[in-house]
Amino acid sequence: MTHQIILVFHLLAATVWVGGHLFLAIRYLPEALKKKDASVLVNFKNKFEPVGLPSLLTLLVTGILMAYHYGVTFTHWFSFSNGIEKVVSAKLLLLFLTVGMAINAQLFVFPKIKSDKLRPVAFQIIAITVIGVAMLILGSWVRIGGL
Ligand code: HEM
Repeated sequence: MTHQIILVFHLLAATVWVGGHLFLAIRYLPEALKKKDASVLVNFKNKFEPVGLPSLLTLLVTGILMAYHYGVTFTHWFSFSNGIEKVVSAKLLLLFLTVGMAINAQLFVFPKIKSDKLRPVAFQIIAITVIGVAMLILGSWVRIGGL
């Protein structure tokens, strides 16, 4: 029961994180590129951040709690020795990559954003969206025993 409640929070956070990025990539990014208008992306970022970052933190905390329920404790991480542990380790690596990219976006990409040069930010948005979807797909492997 506890596991299921944690999973519900994990799924809600995944909905916000992945859904938000898909909406950004499918709806706002093409609009910004078409209008050559960086403010479309900056406005989305400012509105999404207060819900997106807590969702990412929720995914990490709930993910680790569920990993512990499956016996995948800290000492087993990154050993790539069994199915569920492989999923957890892959998700943790992708999460670290996501955090690194978010810091890069915050410190280097957005401060220099220009309406006529949206390629770096477009690449960043697509990459972080693909990584989010990959983490969702990896999650679906757990119920069939992992990778
Ligand atoms: C962007 C980040 C993430 C997304 C989008 C995501 C998405 C998902 C989804 C959709 C499921 C449900 C699978 C199902 O019910 O069949 C799931 C399950 C799971 N996730 Fe994540 N996840 C993320 C991050 C993490 C992290 C960082 C960890 C571990 C540290 C983790 C560990 C797990 C585990 C153990 C399950 C299996 C739960 C179960 O079926 O009992 N996830 N994830």
